[in-house]
Amino acid sequence: MMDTAQLQANILRGHGRNHVRLLFFRFPASVDSAVAMTRDLAQCVTSARQQQLQSEEYQRCQADSLLVSFYLTYDGLHDGLGLIGIWERFRGRAATSPNGRLFSDGMSSLESSGQILDKVDDWESHYQRKDGKPPFHGMVLLARDNPEALDMDCAAMRAILTRDGQVVHEEQGRALRQSSQGPPLEHFGYVDGISNPEFAPLVVRDGGWDASAPLDQVLVPDPFVNGAFGSFLVYRKLEQDVSKFRDLVGHMAQRSGLSQAEAGARLVGRFEDGTPVLGTTIPSGLWPPDNDFTFQDDLAGSGCPLFAHVRKMNPRLDDPHLSPAEQLDRRARRIARRGITYGNREPDLSDAPSKDVGLLFMAFMANIADQFAFIQRAWANDPSFPRTPTNVDPIIGPDATPLGRCFQDRGSSFSWQSAVTMRGGEYFFAPSIPFLHNPQAG
Ligand code: HEM
Repeated sequence: MMDTAQLQANILRGHGRNHVRLLFFRFPASVDSAVAMTRDLAQCVTSARQQQLQSEEYQRCQADSLLVSFYLTYDGLHDGLGLIGIWERFRGRAATSPNGRLFSDGMSSLESSGQILDKVDDWESHYQRKDGKPPFHGMVLLARDNPEALDMDCAAMRAILTRDGQVVHEEQGRALRQSSQGPPLEHFGYVDGISNPEFAPLVVRDGGWDASAPLDQVLVPDPFVNGAFGSFLVYRKLEQDVSKFRDLVGHMAQRSGLSQAEAGARLVGRFEDGTPVLGTTIPSGLWPPDNDFTFQDDLAGSGCPLFAHVRKMNPRLDDPHLSPAEQLDRRARRIARRGITYGNREPDLSDAPSKDVGLLFMAFMANIADQFAFIQRAWANDPSFPRTPTNVDPIIGPDATPLGRCFQDRGSSFSWQSAVTMRGGEYFFAPSIPFLHNPQAG
């Protein structure tokens, strides 16, 4: 039985707040000071249990509350807190395993960037290593609805982090909504955060999509505390060129004779309001958007193109020739997305910025190599997934593709270039709360 008072918030369920700050910090040089700093921070960290209570309170009276999470890089655990033998303690996850190598070497390593085609030289400098040294040891996430109150919380957190250590970078996330009650959108204008694994059994009707997932898809035993759990976090700052995306969708619409709305929906796999493009040519306007569908009756991709972002990222039983074990394997790749948009927009989103807006992509999982790195490399970036010819993911796939930049959809072809640029990121571990109270090898 897992104790939710020992698990950090935001892993099993998203926090749903409108404002987020990410403080990237370096520990003080001495291990003793780093341990003391972690203990101080542990007092502020929100557990999954507290998150549940906050959420009940929010439903009762819309009470705004602060949520704090604390994540560490491998260097933060190893150099900052002086912990050794980390991998021996992650049962079954040795240092030499693909997951071990990605986490230990970091997202800017040759290993990681080679696998998932990141161009690290183009990253913002505060995400790059200098003289082989990692730029930060960890990240504190603070979230709430009231931005002024969040500024004060941030100042208090900075005071703890800078007593001996350093805050080396900060990001500000802000949920993008067209109205205060509207759903969160990403900057291209589509509702985001609809489909995620649900870590509780769900009732699914026959033929629908079973969104449930076992806890070991997102949790791993905390290496330093028996009976407590943590999770790996993938963070990526993805800049979006809204102007370029709109031009490209316009070009696709022109080539295919589709409306702009339908052309965009065929690229994303959902209309802007979240309606799945499968089986319709117009958005339904229904809320919540349908998530109870599979692609098993649309093998050729005429209803939803094989290259559509949501289909590349979750092929949902789209191949009846796969064995049950292979289907299970695909289900086990799913990740718990918890990202938030950054950057300023006009309230009606009529502007079309080319830079300085995007997604602070964050996702929890039990294994970085088997989940995030696999779906980015072998699904998004691979033009032959799920079948040839498909092409790369038009939202997050690379520009240089062996099939060229020409996409085929229902007899017409159109050229495509990525409108998303990776600006920097890192792999983190979200340790258990008892570990944060006593961050030493037991
Ligand atoms: C700026 C970059 C991105 C944009 C604009 C974007 C946009 C979207 C949108 C609009 C949806 C549909 C709404 C939903 O189901 O929640 C979606 C779903 C999804 N995205 Fe992304 N995304 C981005 C990056 C990524 C990355 C980096 C990954 C992972 C490598 C990813 C994985 C997924 C997954 C797994 C789904 C759910 C698919 C499903 O279960 O149906 N996305 N994304």
